[in-house]
Amino acid sequence: MAEYICVLNKDTIIIKPAKKTPILLRMIVLVFAMVCGVYICSVCLKQISTHSKIKIQDIQVIERPSPDVDHENLHISTVHYPNPETFGRAECAHNPVRYFAILSMQRSGSGWFETLLNSHVNVSSNGEIFSVLDRRINISSITQTLDKVYNLDWFTSASKNECSAAVGFKWMLNQGVMQHHKEIADYFNRRGVSAIFLFRRNLLRRMVSVLANSYDRHAKLLNGTHKSHVHSTEEAETLAKYKPMINSTLLISDLKEVEITAAKALEYFNSTRHIVLYYEDLIKNPTKLKDVQAFLGLPVMELKSRQVKIHKGPLADHVKNWEDINNALNGTAYESFLQADY
Ligand SMILES: *[C@@H]1O[C@H](CO)[C@@H](O)[C@H](O)[C@H]1NC(C)=O
Ligand SMILES: *[C@@H]1O[C@H](CO)[C@@H](O)[C@H](O)[C@H]1NC(C)=O
Ligand SMILES: *[C@@H]1O[C@H](CO)[C@@H](O)[C@H](O)[C@H]1NC(C)=O
Ligand SMILES: *[C@@H]1O[C@H](CO)[C@@H](O)[C@H](O)[C@H]1NC(C)=O
Ligand SMILES: *[C@@H]1O[C@H](CO)[C@@H](O)[C@H](O)[C@H]1NC(C)=O
Ligand SMILES: *[C@@H]1O[C@H](CO)[C@@H](O)[C@H](O)[C@H]1NC(C)=O
Repeated sequence: MAEYICVLNKDTIIIKPAKKTPILLRMIVLVFAMVCGVYICSVCLKQISTHSKIKIQDIQVIERPSPDVDHENLHISTVHYPNPETFGRAECAHNPVRYFAILSMQRSGSGWFETLLNSHVNVSSNGEIFSVLDRRINISSITQTLDKVYNLDWFTSASKNECSAAVGFKWMLNQGVMQHHKEIADYFNRRGVSAIFLFRRNLLRRMVSVLANSYDRHAKLLNGTHKSHVHSTEEAETLAKYKPMINSTLLISDLKEVEITAAKALEYFNSTRHIVLYYEDLIKNPTKLKDVQAFLGLPVMELKSRQVKIHKGPLADHVKNWEDINNALNGTAYESFLQADY
């Protein structure tokens, strides 16, 4: 005989006298309980999955499934076994290789990032190969160049040849990427190339670096040679002595333009397998480099670079007309650029 026990509160338990329950009623209760169980389970699962999505967004590692790629592309593997024309892969012939491209903008830490990647014994990141105009004059020369790189037939000081497990290069957005984005995204999806976006959050600091680097192209502050990257604090200090003037009238629109370019690039390649990195995060949080290695399917190693940062400390020390810049940005969406450290 069943008894109904109602717990009204901690102290009171009322025991009702048992009633006779018709079998039909019992069945209804049973079915109702089952439906409730299934519903609760599905709600739980949904919450778990949104929870993990938020986590992924938080760490800025975004690997979205490809919503508008054809089904064919979904089966393209990110793992490859290239067969170079110029050499044999010898003992590493059975090791898989991943293809990547670092999509970035000038003065956003991509040179430093690339030296870090290349300190991995299995990574060949071949530098800014599309800085040469001929190689990006039209889409067919771009494609030819890409084919050669991903077939491991492109040689630079970064080439690891036989035992490369990830091969790529860095590509500035203004070197044909934006212009030929459609064909390039198609190529990436067709050949299973992963994109590593590397941006800088503080676009004002980036602007200072662009202006100083452009000045040094002519001034050649280091014993008559132009250097974009340095390996000692003395060199860094010498380069940082130059303080650029920033045109405060154009400042906001210049910053906005850079921001829009980055957003467009992300949109163009939103169907490509990708990861988004920020220079500031890489500096502050070394575990980001592990995320990158995981993204490229590499055995995780400690990555090192000999490069030294050029503009250290408050930005106010690095700009000639700081007052104007401060006034131009105070109270705007870009105000935080005035304060940030990196
Ligand atoms: C692309 O440029 C190369 C080199 O300038 C040229 O030989 C080739 O004909 C061009 N291809 C197309 C499709 O325009
Ligand atoms: C990485 O390179 C080392 C040394 O060349 C090689 O022994 C190893 O198999 C490579 N690992 C992968 C995953 O290709
Ligand atoms: C520049 O020249 C000075 C003096 O000749 C030397 O001490 C210094 O190492 C040189 N720096 C570079 C970057 O070559
Ligand atoms: C800033 O740029 C604008 C537009 O090119 C120009 O008219 C103005 O003279 C510049 N201001 C300074 C201080 O160079
Ligand atoms: C990707 O970009 C296209 C436009 O280029 C847009 O229509 C689409 O909604 C975007 N998809 C995602 C997932 O952001
Ligand atoms: C920004 O502007 C506000 C009001 O216009 C002023 O009180 C504040 O001191 C300014 N901040 C800086 C850093 O100049």
